Amino acid sequence: MSAGGGALAGRRIAVAGAGGGLGPTVVRALADAGAWVAAADRTDAHLDVVRDVAGDARAADLVTAEGARAWADALGEVDGLLHLVGGWRGGDDLEDMDLADLDLLEKLLFHSVVHTTRAFAPLLKAAGDRGRFALVSSSVVAKPTAGNAAYAATKAAAEAWTLTLASELAPTQGTANVVVVTAIVTPQMREESPQKAYKTFTDVGEIADALVYLSSSAARKMNGQRLHLHAA
Ligand SMILES: NC(=O)c1ccc[n+]([C@@H]2O[C@H](COP(=O)([O-])OP(=O)(O)OC[C@H]3O[C@@H](n4cnc5c(N)ncnc54)[C@H](OP(=O)(O)O)[C@@H]3O)[C@@H](O)[C@H]2O)c1
Repeated sequence: MSAGGGALAGRRIAVAGAGGGLGPTVVRALADAGAWVAAADRTDAHLDVVRDVAGDARAADLVTAEGARAWADALGEVDGLLHLVGGWRGGDDLEDMDLADLDLLEKLLFHSVVHTTRAFAPLLKAAGDRGRFALVSSSVVAKPTAGNAAYAATKAAAEAWTLTLASELAPTQGTANVVVVTAIVTPQMREESPQKAYKTFTDVGEIADALVYLSSSAARKMNGQRLHLHAA
């Protein structure tokens, strides 16, 4: 699936939620492939880990329309938007769950997709066949498990929204796709628990490689797809 070195030369890629568990590896992989990367996260402090490689790093509240629009307006031209904003709540059966957790996950996992895509869609359409969107989603959407109702339902909404965008980008030959994982493991997690096998986890580097590929010309024919990067 490698897109090769320099595959993203000349591309401007925005990364939403760039300072989280996955973001820093993705930002570095995009920059290594030649992209100019714009990073956004909740606070400036979140962005310290990517400031050395990002062409632009700014705090933005991406669960609001205003926050997402201000970020898009500040960047001007953009070829790709990678959505990495995350969060998890759950554990209780649905009759016992705190509905505040559903509200929170709606904001983090769905509204952030709604607002960022609405703000960036005109830019992605203007980018023509370079226009890209990608969402990182979860295998619980296809196989929801007990205690995960709010998480699975809000990720399902985000996937449906992404596939709608795929259809809307098709006339300008842009693409929108979903990368599906079960759980993500970082090098720091492996260092902290070297005895753990992390069998069901996907390495941040593998996800970053997939996102570089999806952002490149090599993936121009891949639109509206789910890439499963997890064990069956
Ligand atoms: N981690 C997993 O095992 C896993 C499994 C399946 C799918 N995914 C998905 O993969 C993606 C990346 O995962 P991740 O673990 O890197 O996510 P994450 O660390 O939970 O979130 C990414 C970043 O988004 C930030 N964020 C939260 N609210 C925001 C807001 N209002 N505006 C802007 N940024 C905001 C987070 O800040 P805070 O940390 O301060 O909230 C964090 O820095 C997510 O979409 C996640 O749902 C993750």
